[in-house]
Amino acid sequence: MKPKVFITRPVPEAVLSKIATECEIEWHQQDQSLSREELAEHLRDREGVLCQITDRIDDTVMAKAPVLKVIANVAVGYDNIDLASASRRGILVTNTPDVLTDTTADLAFALLLATARRIAEADRFVRSGQWKEWKLDLLQGTDVHHSRLGIIGLGRIGRAVARRAKGFAMNILYWMPRRASSEVENELGVTYVDKDTLLRESDFISLHVPLRPDTHHLIGRAELGQMKPTAILINTARGPIVDEKSLVEALREGRIAGAGLDVFEDEPRVNSELLAMSTVVLAPHIGSASRQTRLRMAEMAAENLVAGVTGRIPRNVVNRELTVMASASRSSR
Ligand code: GLV
Repeated sequence: MKPKVFITRPVPEAVLSKIATECEIEWHQQDQSLSREELAEHLRDREGVLCQITDRIDDTVMAKAPVLKVIANVAVGYDNIDLASASRRGILVTNTPDVLTDTTADLAFALLLATARRIAEADRFVRSGQWKEWKLDLLQGTDVHHSRLGIIGLGRIGRAVARRAKGFAMNILYWMPRRASSEVENELGVTYVDKDTLLRESDFISLHVPLRPDTHHLIGRAELGQMKPTAILINTARGPIVDEKSLVEALREGRIAGAGLDVFEDEPRVNSELLAMSTVVLAPHIGSASRQTRLRMAEMAAENLVAGVTGRIPRNVVNRELTVMASASRSSR
């Protein structure tokens, strides 16, 4: 008998048929998220689930899924899943790293350029018929090239952003709790500084840390207060890493110059003041949204799902302690 799996949102046909060769699929075909209660109901007899960041899989949901073995998230971030609870229950959680690194770094850089050079505002200006003639002071932005970029979190995506910044001759600072190796620093041409220095000295600050209890509101009132009044904040990581209320205040009061935001504290709701600010460029959480990358993410999650329900160890397990235990019990057999 094929293992039973649940797919919470539409996925490409090719991905679906690959899963179908090894699993019995139940599929939620409407492209809108299920409530926690609905999700729990669907997972009652399922060994695996292919889910997205809009699906909150917490302990209550898992408690109602007694045969669940694997949660395959179509995302690199997995803050929508209670990892501690999954580990306690022996449920593997997988993500889709690497395949989206460059695409997300492209979006971070696109937001940085768009905010600095007022691209969204310029587009609105032309479309609304306001453009009458070339003027020396028309829509002046700020230079990206040769400016100073502060990267918070030099993981895969942070490094890919640094590579792009190098091409723009930017001076690159970075901070994260654990310093990168000197090989990485030399290859990328980045300088390790403490968080205060990065906040005080950067013209652009780009966030590339996962959302965890220790990164929640990592950028709050105090941090925004340390930034230059000309600084621009870019967030393509997760909304709650920034205290959005304090960000709105800092932008309103001109304590920082602008922000490029792909993620928000309470997605898809966006603070109404942000919507009205011309110094802010907004995107609807599309960091990894290229056709190629989204397909690769779905394929990768499907591979993880199938492996997990057919007794193999998926490639991208995030609660690795479970795989160590599984390998140990296999080798002692
Ligand atoms: C998207 O936000 C992801 O984590 O992949």
